[in-house]
Amino acid sequence: MRVLVAGASGAIGTRLVPQLIEAGHEVIGTHRSAGSVECLRALGAAPLQLDLLDQDAVMRAVIAQSPDAIVHQATALSNLTDLKNFDRTFHQTNLLRTRGTDALLAAARRTGVRRVVAQSYASARHARTGAMVKAEGDPLDEHPVASMRESVAAMRYLEQEVSAAGGIALRYGTFYGAENDGLVEPVRKRQFPIAGDGAGVWSFIHLDDAAAATVLALEHEGPAIYNVVDDDPAAVREWLPVLAQALGAKPPRRVPRWLARLFAGQAALMMATESRGASNAKAKRELGWTLRFPSWRDGFVAAYTPAARAHAASRPVDSVSVART
Ligand SMILES: NC(=O)c1ccc[n+]([C@@H]2O[C@H](COP(=O)([O-])OP(=O)(O)OC[C@H]3O[C@@H](n4cnc5c(N)ncnc54)[C@H](OP(=O)(O)O)[C@@H]3O)[C@@H](O)[C@H]2O)c1
Repeated sequence: MRVLVAGASGAIGTRLVPQLIEAGHEVIGTHRSAGSVECLRALGAAPLQLDLLDQDAVMRAVIAQSPDAIVHQATALSNLTDLKNFDRTFHQTNLLRTRGTDALLAAARRTGVRRVVAQSYASARHARTGAMVKAEGDPLDEHPVASMRESVAAMRYLEQEVSAAGGIALRYGTFYGAENDGLVEPVRKRQFPIAGDGAGVWSFIHLDDAAAATVLALEHEGPAIYNVVDDDPAAVREWLPVLAQALGAKPPRRVPRWLARLFAGQAALMMATESRGASNAKAKRELGWTLRFPSWRDGFVAAYTPAARAHAASRPVDSVSVART
């Protein structure tokens, strides 16, 4: 298929492009910054500079490129520092998930593109009652923390619109597997403490496994929603010390709930203490997806420990190592 990947130069896009090409697809990779052109060319995609928030430009681009399928991976999350003002921090990403999705779906409708796959998120979205691990059909949080209402609504909007168009929304776990993953620096600097009892459950996914599931989703009939997460949802108090160790950092500090609320805000406290993780049973069953890193326990070691990284760097160049450059 001829696949248009919107946001191809980002963390997941750069892992996805080589896997799509390896699966026999032709890839048009959209990006926003001029600096992404060479990266996309090196990965084997035809680069296309496109602002997803410019609806006319998206329509023109999709008509001109005439893809068979569209994958929406555009976010604006490279400066994720302030979780206290969650919706303000996610504002641009929320626009990409609402207006950006609208623009892509309108163009897909006009050009008869039936295969659409879009990025959503799995953890911290479900009702904060009952089981700590949730399936796709379990109720979402109807009363989200006030500071994250717009962000939660944007994800729900994307999933509804993509499903209504017959497409597939992928609720990824928290990405890891790149040196500049968002969690790396805060954990290395001991700025990510275990707040309260640290009982909030997170689901992780290695970027290469996330990309593999996306390739499979593209070959699958929608509408559908899949959790693309690993086999091992875990409480913050469990995974955070393991991540710190893999990074060679000191163990995380512990802070009481009131202090976490004061400095990091209600959204961060919720994620640390009440978040639910997600089950990947449906994606494995229906997509035939197998994971290279079924648990973050092995994945963190492979991604972050100096010995494992040195070993990976000494391997002959293959599609995975090209994606990491
Ligand atoms: N599930 C998760 O845990 C999750 C999900 C997403 C991101 N993240 C994390 O957030 C951090 C940053 O993510 P990232 O590296 O993917 O970068 P990003 O800044 O979120 O950009 C992602 C992609 O969207 C494109 N883009 C941004 N604004 C756009 C717009 N208005 N129109 C069209 N395309 C636009 C970017 O193009 P340019 O590259 O040209 O700017 C890039 O291709 C990483 O640490 C990543 O792991 C985590």
